[in-house]
Amino acid sequence: MDGTTLSSETLLFEFHYNDHKTVTLTGPFRIVRQDEVHLMQIRKITEADAEDYIELCKKLDDETDFMMLEPGERITNVEQQKNAIHSLLAAGNSMVFVAEDAGKLVGYLGAYGGEFRRNKHKVYVVIGILQEYTGQGIGTALFAETEKWARKMGAHRLELTVMVHNEAGLALYRKVGFEIEGIAKDSLFVNGRYVDEYYMAKIL
Ligand SMILES: CC(C)(COP(=O)(O)OP(=O)(O)OC[C@H]1O[C@@H](n2cnc3c(N)ncnc32)[C@H](O)[C@@H]1OP(=O)(O)O)[C@@H](O)C(=O)NCCC(=O)NCCS
Repeated sequence: MDGTTLSSETLLFEFHYNDHKTVTLTGPFRIVRQDEVHLMQIRKITEADAEDYIELCKKLDDETDFMMLEPGERITNVEQQKNAIHSLLAAGNSMVFVAEDAGKLVGYLGAYGGEFRRNKHKVYVVIGILQEYTGQGIGTALFAETEKWARKMGAHRLELTVMVHNEAGLALYRKVGFEIEGIAKDSLFVNGRYVDEYYMAKIL
């Protein structure tokens, strides 16, 4: 839908979806109905995102049992987070992509490359999107951006783990080309019981 122009009596603006459904407005424009367009941006994290990123992660810890940390378990302060982002960006084969809706971080995808010569080609992926923003294609967009980045820097394999009952996660991963490689039995301890995880991967 590149370059499509919408017009009506009260509404006249241009927009285009880029490859990943991200909506970009090009001015001049006037949003008459707020729900008509979301100004969503997928971009690389920066050190300036440290505080917002911690908030996002804490909110995800509270909202979902599918991430690693329990509510209240995250103790990273802003300085530590800044340093972590600095190291991540300096590594060259790791990245965090964030989804930003009108200045607010609403999701992220962390892609962590191997640190040795024998596993540098591998990238481990973690994703989390705030509940109210799920089911809108943001996960798909984050993966598209990540895969583009991974191919560019010569990665060969993307991998992840997911709880076997995480239907939304499995649907997203299958959609973007991941396959189940095996089961890690009793891999996590969640709300008083052991939970199995799938190992999934995509060869680039
Ligand atoms: C899993 C998660 C990342 C998916 O992100 P998302 O932005 O909702 O995904 P998308 O909107 O791009 O949807 C991708 C596909 O999954 C499907 N899907 C989404 N939610 C679903 C659900 N609850 N059940 C079944 N399928 C679902 C969509 O229909 C879509 O397929 P389609 O485009 O063919 O319709 C998101 O739900 C999330 O962050 N959940 C909480 C944390 C979490 O589980 N993280 C992953 C830990 S391994």
